[in-house]
Amino acid sequence: MTYKLRDTYYKKAKQEGYRSRAAYKLIELQERFGILRPGEHVVDLGAAPGGWLQVAAKFVGPSGKVLGVDLQPIEALNQKNVILVQGDITAPETEQRIKEYLGRPADCVISDLAPKLTGIRDADEARSLELNRTALEAAKRLLRPAGSLLMKSFISEGLRGFFAELEKHFHSVQRTRPDASRKGSSEIYFFAKEYQTKPRG
Ligand SMILES: C[S@@+](CC[C@H](N)C(=O)[O-])C[C@H]1O[C@@H](n2cnc3c(N)ncnc32)[C@H](O)[C@@H]1O
Repeated sequence: MTYKLRDTYYKKAKQEGYRSRAAYKLIELQERFGILRPGEHVVDLGAAPGGWLQVAAKFVGPSGKVLGVDLQPIEALNQKNVILVQGDITAPETEQRIKEYLGRPADCVISDLAPKLTGIRDADEARSLELNRTALEAAKRLLRPAGSLLMKSFISEGLRGFFAELEKHFHSVQRTRPDASRKGSSEIYFFAKEYQTKPRG
């Protein structure tokens, strides 16, 4: 049997109508940190195929809004509070479209951005750190003061420096790994609270 078919979260996602097993990571992270609240405006970076979008849309409810952006097209969801943007988050025009659709600064940015892995460790780590910086820079331009950022990262040598960078821009930063992360994966998540418009230090 293939890994996918044996994987509990993969099976559960199929049964419960989630587009990806990643949905359970956001559910767990929400239970741990209480990240999203009803009525909030949320930007989901690297949103395809849409598991996090489905979950986030439930947490913010009909008075909230979730905007998902990805390089890949995302099939329309039946939740009315979800907006989809196809584009590269490193391109200024993508960010401009996000701002226009959102209509006001975001309360929270969630990022599950992941690079296409090459199998060459140094290259993969460098690309992952680059995406981390992309997510942080986008969050700094999209968030309201005191907004929050949840983001995926991968363990690498440069991560300590990135963590310090996050700490300059947020009041507090916590690091965690959900049970739903695949065994053997080096992914971790940072939850950074209370965005400070003037960096510390
Ligand atoms: C792990 S997947 C996200 C899974 C998603 N959270 C879910 O629950 O279904 C990571 C996504 O990041 C996207 N991505 C990577 N680089 C990107 C970029 N520069 N701009 C937009 N999306 C990007 C990939 O296309 C991929 O769909």
